[in-house]
Amino acid sequence: MNIAANPVVENNDTVYLKDYKKPTFLVESIHLDLKVYDDHAVVDSTLVLQRQTAGDLVLLGRDLELKSIRLNGELLSETEYQLDAEQLRLSNLPDQASIQTQVIIHPESNTQLEGLYQAGNLFVTQNEPEGFRKITFYPDRPDVLSVFTTRVEADKKYPVLLANGNLLETGEVDENRHFAIWQDPTKKPAYLFACVIGDLAVLKDRYTTSEGRDVALEIYAVEKDIPKCHIAMEALKHSMRWDEEHYGRPYDLDNYMIVAVSQFNMGAMENKGLNIFNTSCVLADEEYTTDAAIMRVQSVIAHEYFHNWTGNRITCRDWFQLCLKEGLTVFRDQSFSEDLQSAAVQRIDDVAVLKAHQFPEDAGPLSHPPRPDHFVEINNFYTATVYEKGAEINRMMATLLGKEKFRQGTDEYFNRYDGQAVTVEDWVDALTAGSGVDLSNFLTWYNQPGTPKLQVTAEYDAQKQSYRLNLSQSLKEHPKYPNLKAVPIPVALALFNAKTGEQLTLHSDALFVNAVKDGVYLFDQDTASIEFSGVTEQPVVSLLRNFSAPVNLEFDYSDDELAFLIQYETNGFNQWQAAQTLLERVLLKDHSVEPYIQALQKTIPDLVQHDPLLASRLFDVPTEGYLGSRIDHDYQPEVIQTKRNAVLNTLATALGSFWKDTYLSLDPTLQSEFSQAMGERALKNITLAMLARQGDEHAFELAHQQYQTTQNMTERLGALRVLVWNDAPQAAQALQDFYQRYKDEALSLDQWFMVQAANPNATEASIRALTQHPDYDLGTPNRIRSVSGGLSNNPVNAWSFGVEHYLELAKYLDQKNPILGSRLLQVLSRWYTLAEPQRSHVQNALKALQPLVKSKNVTETLSSMLSV
Ligand code: TRP
Ligand code: ZN
Repeated sequence: MNIAANPVVENNDTVYLKDYKKPTFLVESIHLDLKVYDDHAVVDSTLVLQRQTAGDLVLLGRDLELKSIRLNGELLSETEYQLDAEQLRLSNLPDQASIQTQVIIHPESNTQLEGLYQAGNLFVTQNEPEGFRKITFYPDRPDVLSVFTTRVEADKKYPVLLANGNLLETGEVDENRHFAIWQDPTKKPAYLFACVIGDLAVLKDRYTTSEGRDVALEIYAVEKDIPKCHIAMEALKHSMRWDEEHYGRPYDLDNYMIVAVSQFNMGAMENKGLNIFNTSCVLADEEYTTDAAIMRVQSVIAHEYFHNWTGNRITCRDWFQLCLKEGLTVFRDQSFSEDLQSAAVQRIDDVAVLKAHQFPEDAGPLSHPPRPDHFVEINNFYTATVYEKGAEINRMMATLLGKEKFRQGTDEYFNRYDGQAVTVEDWVDALTAGSGVDLSNFLTWYNQPGTPKLQVTAEYDAQKQSYRLNLSQSLKEHPKYPNLKAVPIPVALALFNAKTGEQLTLHSDALFVNAVKDGVYLFDQDTASIEFSGVTEQPVVSLLRNFSAPVNLEFDYSDDELAFLIQYETNGFNQWQAAQTLLERVLLKDHSVEPYIQALQKTIPDLVQHDPLLASRLFDVPTEGYLGSRIDHDYQPEVIQTKRNAVLNTLATALGSFWKDTYLSLDPTLQSEFSQAMGERALKNITLAMLARQGDEHAFELAHQQYQTTQNMTERLGALRVLVWNDAPQAAQALQDFYQRYKDEALSLDQWFMVQAANPNATEASIRALTQHPDYDLGTPNRIRSVSGGLSNNPVNAWSFGVEHYLELAKYLDQKNPILGSRLLQVLSRWYTLAEPQRSHVQNALKALQPLVKSKNVTETLSSMLSV
């Protein structure tokens, strides 16, 4: 029979939200039987179908070799169905029908890491968003929910056989093969189906839910990685408790399994009761992974766990609604992480990501609304806008409602829609009904692209003792979205006494619609003013505290006012933001760095003592990449690099002996709290780098000593970075040592590649040496990302010899792993901001790539990138 070929990409592949139609049939139940062999797998499926609306049955399938198809037990001939590269169509079916298919697939040669694929000694699935159609013919869309029973059969060299739900039966087929049968009692869409076949060890624990359910918790990984699974296990239990306490959501099955896999396109996947994780998001150990990685593990564990309610039990009607589950789940995992460590620093780190990735995305050719209204390849929409801006929209509504009303709103959402596939409108409706506060105008945020500009001016009237803020908002025109409207912007604010630094109590009268409530003003018009009375002296205002809305704020602060806020603002986030705003002016507008230095001198010594983690963030100097993203034309990466280095040199000199004194005073091993120790380690690495920048004669010795004596990866890597990036005499030997220590630890070795790729002095030859290293592997996304991501740390390098690197990769991955290829190509999406002749050079190179690529993923990204 037919072997379905790769689809040909056509321009009319675009799918539109407005064309949504209900499925013609629902699937009451599916029985899957997967038999895995060395050179193929056989998949038998039985679907019990129930008609819902008139029309043909459409079963989606890709790269499947169809062996047989039966309708109610009767074998069908080729004239009785229509088969093409994307679907199997049956006409004139009765209202109830059973369809059985048998197909052959090839997990052993599946390099796309989508569907069922082999990764080393392991077979795993990745079905979100549209991978299930690569396993069997199915109505592969999220609004078709079914009960899955799965039989998995494989050679006994793979002792672990897992699928979703409860284990019903295990047994032998013959001497060499065995099987397991699993059943998931909860109805779910096919994208949440998972199975795992392999030779893995397991870490076990238990958890009792608020309802008294005793849940078996299991984390599967290769034997030697089991000791690195404890942090994830603790985070899992913590997440389960947190969701009960904060959202009233207990877990609903008797087991919860997590499987770590080293070849994975993204972070992790929330398959029902059987999460599959990139090793980088589950393995955590101070000796092998960095503090940042440990924090990420905890937040991703929470993220996937929280999906059980926001995503799985209530799922998306269609993929345009992706931000319904992702935006809400990111907001939930961010809140969880705020409770885990310092809330201010968590917010700082989350906003830094938003501004470094989502703002530039939304300002360029890949800009799209959090809920897009059309796409060619849905995999291209797992973006910072869907995830991070989606989270910000939820945060704004939560801020506005306050804790209690927000909880009433989410309770209403879970009560109304449990077990259903719903839309963004349903979510906002439920929040509105539950809280009694009309939030319907927040839908505008979901449907429009672009970052709003919020302009604010202030007037103080000493006579009237009144302080007035005038606000206006605007959005950049977008060719595809002509009728952009004002959005509701919660503006959290505070006034400070300019002399004493004390916060003032607010009295306010909105001249137009809303008033300031609990320190938040809801600005939902094109323009508005607020007036504060009884203000006896000219105050300093702090706007958008905690980053209460994802907007670009323009307010004419003086540099001294920003320095004041670094010193006196009690909202840690706005303290950091004031420093960032000031430094951005220094770096992009040639302001003096003096006010920043003076504010640091007044603030830092004390902060280093009682909050080292926040202190470490106040030294953040905006990265070259971020600064570049703030420049819309004639961008010259070298100019930014030179300026940034000059500022860092000034800081190194200006704070004099502070760096060495602080470096020598820190001892993270004496801290019992993780976040305190993490803060001290961050400070140690910053101060060490500054010592090297000062040219301190002992800097390299100290770095080498730190490298050799520490047991902690954050410290070891921080020291290695200083040695390598400064071409220290000890660099080569330290690199050699690091390689020997960690050559069998993939995640640590990723860091070895990353440090070298991110070296500001990297060259075309040094990058090529990395990509030709025997441990470089184009089949392992983590390894590719360590080099490509490292390279992008230095825009000067990325925009010169890096361009060729990214284009070559995109061309190669277009065939092998188009999801990854498309994502890596996006590193070049701001090509149009470059100064000539670089701009034309990159543009021509991108155009030259166009005829060479075939996948929808890369084709769509490339054509969007070139459409400026
Ligand atoms: N739903 C996953 C998450 O955010 C995302 C994901 C995991 C994914 N793997 C994927 C998306 C592969 C697309 C392709 O938790
Ligand atoms: Zn998610």
